[in-house]
Amino acid sequence: MKIFLIAGARPNFMKIAPIARALDSHNPLTYKIVHTGQHYDQNMSDIFFQELGIRQPDYHLGAGGGTHAQQTARIMTGFEDICTNERPDMVIVVGDVNSTLACSVVAKKMQIKVAHVEAGLRSFDLSMPEEINRMVTDAISDLFFVTEEQGMVNLIKEGKPESALHFVGHVMIDNLFYQLKKLEEMDPETLPYNDFKQAHSDYGVVTLHRPSNVDNRDVFEGIMGTLAKVSESLPLIFPIHPRTRKNMEVFGIEPADNVHLVEPLSYMAFLNLWKDAEVALTDSGGLQEETTALGIPCLTIRENTERPITITEGTNELVGTSREAILNAFGRIIAREWKQGQRPKFWDGRASERIVEILKGERVKI
Ligand code: UD1
Repeated sequence: MKIFLIAGARPNFMKIAPIARALDSHNPLTYKIVHTGQHYDQNMSDIFFQELGIRQPDYHLGAGGGTHAQQTARIMTGFEDICTNERPDMVIVVGDVNSTLACSVVAKKMQIKVAHVEAGLRSFDLSMPEEINRMVTDAISDLFFVTEEQGMVNLIKEGKPESALHFVGHVMIDNLFYQLKKLEEMDPETLPYNDFKQAHSDYGVVTLHRPSNVDNRDVFEGIMGTLAKVSESLPLIFPIHPRTRKNMEVFGIEPADNVHLVEPLSYMAFLNLWKDAEVALTDSGGLQEETTALGIPCLTIRENTERPITITEGTNELVGTSREAILNAFGRIIAREWKQGQRPKFWDGRASERIVEILKGERVKI
């Protein structure tokens, strides 16, 4: 069976790494890596390939930048050419980015099987491009690999056949544990901003890039004002996404002195920081889950989440953009009144292995 493994944007790279490793250990399953180029900066893309041990992509579509339609169209056109030449048996897409949607649609129209890893998550918020990507991808996928029980519930409600659904756990958590072990064996002094960690016994980390938080001046200024208040009690380190940096410049927003902006970090450099943080303030999908896996308090600066298990079982809480809600939750963290949380079922570092075992069994069925 010939498989294409698709990655395009930063949150995809940590998901394909463990799948590629699991596929490597099962010889009959040959695969090629397609990088759509949705993310293209060295520190948004290349550094992840190097550090996560992903081999060089077999194809690079160079389709980054532009509007959603321009980007999606470039990915689709490039990917269709490759599929025409190579005729893979299956395309594996991960997550919810534009590359996920673009490649699944192309494959399905060419009668190529589509497997979606991280299927079934729903925020029910159609103002989020990721929710549209998730819904479209799941509408046409053949195989669904699910990270949490609510994902199974959502897919069953949408009429998917149970035989196509597989609750396997989370490949991103496989990667987290793998990299954590590597980090323990490394000298952290070699990582950027380890000196920040040494200089501050307590600190928080921030990531922010959702259009709803950073594309509107008032909302963005409001969040930065709240972060300034938080930073009066706890220094914050904030690796800043290109979209966020651009808007900060356009709006003329100046971060407070104790909010330390740094360039986007490699996986290891960021892990080295957040794993020992007092709190993560974020609008990322992945960090909500990773902090739950390690029991770090997480304040999600969004009104909803497609990853509810991080709230019901984990250490995450939705605080939206309200200054009062953020400061209230932050106060409870500092007062050590935060929930302990537990690691969700199957977030055990073996999700990729389960996926590959299923794919091997599926060779006859598909
Ligand atoms: C994308 C994903 C989002 C994910 C995020 C992580 C979609 C719809 N969104 O959002 O789910 O959480 O990645 O980063 O797919 N840019 C650069 N250099 C890069 C990449 C992007 O300068 O390497 C610029 C782009 O040109 C654009 C902006 O950053 O101006 C946004 O990039 P884009 O890929 O459109 O979406 P993200 O906001 O990164």
